[in-house]
Amino acid sequence: MQLIHSPASPFVRKVCVLMEEVGLADQIEKISVATSALNTAPEAAAANPTGKIPALIRTDGPAIYDSRVICRYLDDKAQSGLYPEARLWEVLTLEATADAIMESGVTMVYEARLRPAEKVFDGWVEAQWGKIERALSVINERWMSHLNGPLDMSHIAVACALGYLDFRMDDRGWRKGNDALDDWYAAFSQRASMTETAPE
Ligand code: BEZ
Repeated sequence: MQLIHSPASPFVRKVCVLMEEVGLADQIEKISVATSALNTAPEAAAANPTGKIPALIRTDGPAIYDSRVICRYLDDKAQSGLYPEARLWEVLTLEATADAIMESGVTMVYEARLRPAEKVFDGWVEAQWGKIERALSVINERWMSHLNGPLDMSHIAVACALGYLDFRMDDRGWRKGNDALDDWYAAFSQRASMTETAPE
């Protein structure tokens, strides 16, 4: 199998951390592409009509895409139990919350990088940050007992979202007021799956 990949994408990183955690990393070739919302790499468009990454090119069926779909597919393939039936709705909700942080973060980065300076809408950028702040606060207040429990996909997703905030918007200071989450991430980010996939 081949993964359409860019190391800076937090959605790609989710898949790569899962691959490391479940022992699939050496069975999936990473095809690195330079792609953006304005200039889609042909490899990305060939695998996913929207051009979004990650996309997984399978040997036994059509390409699949959207990090959540790929993560569930690979978890199923490896029988790794990262979506445990007993707490499935919690895992999916927390994963969706982490993905929403990533979406807002990537939107902020794209706004600064791709839009002409005179067209940047600061109020809209700040609204994206507001979503991130609210999501972080809810994770810090309501989800720490889940995050301190056995590893599942939501842990990986939250860690990748926080890693992206450190990578692209360190100056925003996400740790302020989120001490429990900060402590959890300090430990989680030491895992080999996280250090192996850290963007440079
Ligand atoms: C980034 O450079 O931040 C980025 C690259 C690809 C996808 C998403 C984000």
